[in-house]
Amino acid sequence: MTTTPRETGSYTTANNGAPVASDNESLTVGADGPVVLHDHYLVEKLAQFNRERVPERVVHAKGGGAFGVFTTTEDVSPYTRAALFQPNTTTEMVARFSTVAGEQGSPDTWRDPRGFALKFYTSEGNYDLVGNNTPVFFIKDGIKFPDFIHSQKRLPGSALRDNDMQWDFWSLRPESSHQVTWLMGDRGIPKTWRHMDGFGSHTYQWINAAGERFWVKYHFQTNQGNEYLTPEEAERLAGVDADAHRRDLFDAIERGEFPSWTLYVQVMPYEDAKTYRFNPFDLTKVWPHGDYPLIKVGTMTLNRNPQNFHAQIEQLALEPSNFVPGIATSPDKMLLARIFSYADAHRYRIGANYQDLPVNYPKNAQVNSYSKEGPMRYTFNDPQVPVYAPNSFGGPHAAPERAAESNGWDADGELVRAAATLHPEDDDVTQPRNLYRHVLDAQAQERLVHNIAGHIAGVRSADIRERAFQYWENIDPELGSRVRHAYAEAQAEQDQPVATV
Ligand code: HEM
Repeated sequence: MTTTPRETGSYTTANNGAPVASDNESLTVGADGPVVLHDHYLVEKLAQFNRERVPERVVHAKGGGAFGVFTTTEDVSPYTRAALFQPNTTTEMVARFSTVAGEQGSPDTWRDPRGFALKFYTSEGNYDLVGNNTPVFFIKDGIKFPDFIHSQKRLPGSALRDNDMQWDFWSLRPESSHQVTWLMGDRGIPKTWRHMDGFGSHTYQWINAAGERFWVKYHFQTNQGNEYLTPEEAERLAGVDADAHRRDLFDAIERGEFPSWTLYVQVMPYEDAKTYRFNPFDLTKVWPHGDYPLIKVGTMTLNRNPQNFHAQIEQLALEPSNFVPGIATSPDKMLLARIFSYADAHRYRIGANYQDLPVNYPKNAQVNSYSKEGPMRYTFNDPQVPVYAPNSFGGPHAAPERAAESNGWDADGELVRAAATLHPEDDDVTQPRNLYRHVLDAQAQERLVHNIAGHIAGVRSADIRERAFQYWENIDPELGSRVRHAYAEAQAEQDQPVATV
């Protein structure tokens, strides 16, 4: 990365490096005269300014991040041959945390899932794990992602966010109920990014040195402890410091308090997937730890702030398509859609050669690609390297025995548009019901009910509101009736005439 050191007494230059005549005055015909077009420095300054932004991310626009290291402390080589997960290996990495629906500048403390996105600069190429602070998601097929996001963003006319859209969508897609239960609970507003767990969320594939395949889920457990904000605290912070989470991470690292997370994985033998009690590739489901216990892998520590937010965080391009040997995709339809979507977003948002930027470049691996040229191309091959394959001049050649994608999975059947519901427990309500009944304690249940009722209070349509109540009744009749009751109580309180003195 090229940075200009601060040198006291150095002179201002234009972008071509030549000294400029004034920092303050445009070139004019007489002091009050018109500005001339050949004031190249003025034109360059204004034109450059107009181009300072790249488009913000279409989702997860507001965020922040830091650099660090991941160290594999345990031996998980029986499950994967990935270089970064071999014992005692330390890999440089960068993390970006974010909210989902808000734009750049929106408050960090709005209720939302938080992005938990990681890029590891491994010796075998960059490996990206782009997850959230929740182990599940709202939908299970990528074809619904634009609809889902539209319902969470803004109305086309007023550009206001709208609870009716949100509950309309959620209540029409009951598969969302597990994630909405997480969202409306404490995890919907973490105290800081340091105080939340991260999940790969999807099921991924690991392949060991013998070529054996496993299905895995990633869990990054925070070593700072899981802590949350009350909705009231979150609202206050949204007003006094919209950047509270970005600031917290930056300041903690400046103070030398380096946040860390311990990585665990759940590992499912390849054959189990066929007969498991629910579809293990369904992103709205977790695998109970009783079935597949957590296996420790190592520790991630963030220890260095970005030097330039735009170059290193805003132009950071994370993509679930970045796999390395020993790690591959699974049949999860959401993951398969994401594998297309992110690189496409980067080409639009940053440019075709986004991987040439230092923060995105696989700096610990050698790039032997046949891609060339295009806007802002910065890296290039030695002129002796052939630009096409196959060639008879010793150019790079494919290595199927090394490539991650060479390990697929068994698939057979007609072309269909259908959800996989072949397993006895593929329903949408068992897991959120268990979360409510068996994971949350009495206080957490109470907060959940309060948060849901408060959110439904923002719905204007009686029909959608009724569907929202039924949504919770379908998950658990007792939860549903508590939500109805809490909503009715809050409305009655609001309708009380205000006492006058
Ligand atoms: C960002 C698409 C599901 C986590 C993005 C971006 C797109 C996108 C286009 C912006 C990328 C950029 O401009 O840099 C999709 C699609 C999905 C999907 C099509 C479903 C098919 C998910 C899921 C998760 C997730 C299930 C988590 C488990 C994230 C995160 C970011 C992001 C963390 C921000 C990455 C960063 O910090 O730069 N998504 N997404 N997305 N998505 Fe998704």
